[in-house]
Amino acid sequence: MNKIIYLDAAASALKPESVIRAEMDFLQNDYANAGRGICARAAAVDEKIMDARRQVARFINARASDNIIFTSGATDGLNRAMRMIYSMPEFTACKPVVAVSDLDHHSARMPWIAGGAEIAVCPLDSGFNYDMDNIPYADVFVITAMSNVIGMPVLVADLIAAARKKNPNVITVVDVAQYVVHMPIDAGAWGADFICFSGHKIGADTGVGVMYIKNPDLFYPDKFGGGMVNKITGADTWVLNDAPEKFEAGTLPLTQIIGFPVAIDELVRYRPDLNLIKYMYDKLSENPRIKIITPRDSTLLTFYIDGMHALDFGASVGARGLCLRVGNMCAGWLHKLMNLTGTARISVGAWNTMDDAKAAVDIINSVVK
Ligand code: ALA
Repeated sequence: MNKIIYLDAAASALKPESVIRAEMDFLQNDYANAGRGICARAAAVDEKIMDARRQVARFINARASDNIIFTSGATDGLNRAMRMIYSMPEFTACKPVVAVSDLDHHSARMPWIAGGAEIAVCPLDSGFNYDMDNIPYADVFVITAMSNVIGMPVLVADLIAAARKKNPNVITVVDVAQYVVHMPIDAGAWGADFICFSGHKIGADTGVGVMYIKNPDLFYPDKFGGGMVNKITGADTWVLNDAPEKFEAGTLPLTQIIGFPVAIDELVRYRPDLNLIKYMYDKLSENPRIKIITPRDSTLLTFYIDGMHALDFGASVGARGLCLRVGNMCAGWLHKLMNLTGTARISVGAWNTMDDAKAAVDIINSVVK
């Protein structure tokens, strides 16, 4: 059996031992539900969840921990943002105009379309950058802060400013699922209304994510159940808790939340080494059949092979122990724009070394001759 070389961090990061230990420790020694019990053990879990929320708030420079809602992931957060915005009184009769772009992951674009919005597609230039001179009018502006295919950061604050020039009341929703791995997020400076990301791409567990809401009081929840209600006042009436509880019906993914701040600590200390990407870029550029799409200073290395389907390529390198992502990366609109049915993507995590990069180049060159 070949040694596995995992160069697919962008699909999901491997988990640091400290995260695994924190989750095991909680499950073995400290487990109880949060927000429901009054015994000491339940109170300690409440405190741990609050700590995690505070740490996430600091990590993205949010004003307060009340702005941080735990979700099951970026997809969940983006769908929930859509439902909350669509239920605002101004949009119940007439759906908003939603600006999207071809950089969007399916999760960032599909919910708005499925919900019935009128879509305005932001044009991109030939380098896949937003064309800042042609930002459309929108009621809701969805920004992909870093495409999971192109891997370059977009200028989120500038885009928000440009969207506000067209409509001062625009609601901005930023998908930072890829961005958060490599770049600091500044919710305060950006002024975004919603920011969503997953835990699993930053080394936390699956099943947990974050939805930042700048002004939680403006929105009505999209999910209902235990933990969000302050008082039942009649047969069909209630008073809700304030944020964040009003947006967190049901039992939270407690174990995954416990691991979240540990993963943040690890990420801040050990960001992926992008010199590995540059090394592979330089080496693979020498192979005439490999057509690289991403710039050398990208956080990703995305390419296609002349004369070989991406899936065949993925299966061949996979059989030799190299794990990378192939296909349309759930970014079908971008692939349509590029006129490609699929690409291959290399991404690195903090665990990857130069030996991995060298082995990957050798495996790829042995398959693509
Ligand atoms: N969105 C994830 C990726 O880029 C799953 O692979």
